[in-house]
Amino acid sequence: LLSDSNARLAAARGLTSSRGRRETGRFLAEGPQAVREALRRPDLVVELFATAAGLAKHAELLEPARSAGVPVDEVSDKAAAGLSETVTPQGLVAVCNRFTRSLAQVLAHEPKLVVALVGANDPGNAGTILRTADAAGADAVIFTGNSVDPYNGKCVRASAGSLFHVGIAVVDDPAEVLTAAAGAGLLTFATTGAGAIDLDQLDLAPPTLWLFGNEARGLPEDVLQAAGVRVRVPIYGRAESLNLASAAAVCLYASARAQRP
Ligand SMILES: C[S@@+](CC[C@H](N)C(=O)[O-])C[C@H]1O[C@@H](n2cnc3c(N)ncnc32)[C@H](O)[C@@H]1O
Repeated sequence: LLSDSNARLAAARGLTSSRGRRETGRFLAEGPQAVREALRRPDLVVELFATAAGLAKHAELLEPARSAGVPVDEVSDKAAAGLSETVTPQGLVAVCNRFTRSLAQVLAHEPKLVVALVGANDPGNAGTILRTADAAGADAVIFTGNSVDPYNGKCVRASAGSLFHVGIAVVDDPAEVLTAAAGAGLLTFATTGAGAIDLDQLDLAPPTLWLFGNEARGLPEDVLQAAGVRVRVPIYGRAESLNLASAAAVCLYASARAQRP
């Protein structure tokens, strides 16, 4: 059992802040699902902390950890709670290396379906979109325009392991994303409730970049201008708009169906 004041444990606690993650290039993957997916890419996993209960309950994860040479340490319930961003800590946390790629890398291999989140700041939405993008067969999710950190604990958790499956890039300036996407042969569709074109009117077979905006403000005007095509998911009832992750699910699956006849 590691002491609660153990230095590696203290360093791992620092990864619950975005500054700690940025400075070390590491993040925490919490819970059996995230840890299982992380261990499929063992080069990413630095170490594993588990409570006695976590070790007993998820014994099947210990063998992959051992064969990958990942150190596994037992920690107290209190220490595990300090590594957790959830109300009910799951007794199992992996310290992982961030694996963000560059914009050029995620666009390099003739991508067909790419998502860019522009200023999205709810980690639950971002993680849900990573999961949906993975499910819809998208190649990459680009976080731009001051979007939430994809390695935020709540985002990692909401992605349910998909964080480890799709390409992720973090790019400051959305304009850079639009230029690179055009260079990679992607059509760009900007989503907004005020879009001139209905989703159902689009030919979605060609390679596509979807742009989604901030939860409250939507996409910035300059991004809407630069993207050209503004697409609306039709609202048939009285809802004012769709939740960001719901809008993304509708658009990404429309693309997936068109691209995979
Ligand atoms: C809640 S909306 C922001 C509100 C803003 N009125 C709007 O419609 O863009 C957050 C994001 O979800 C997406 N979204 C929500 N409802 C949409 C709709 N009906 N059509 C297209 N995109 C939508 C867009 O990406 C938008 O930037």
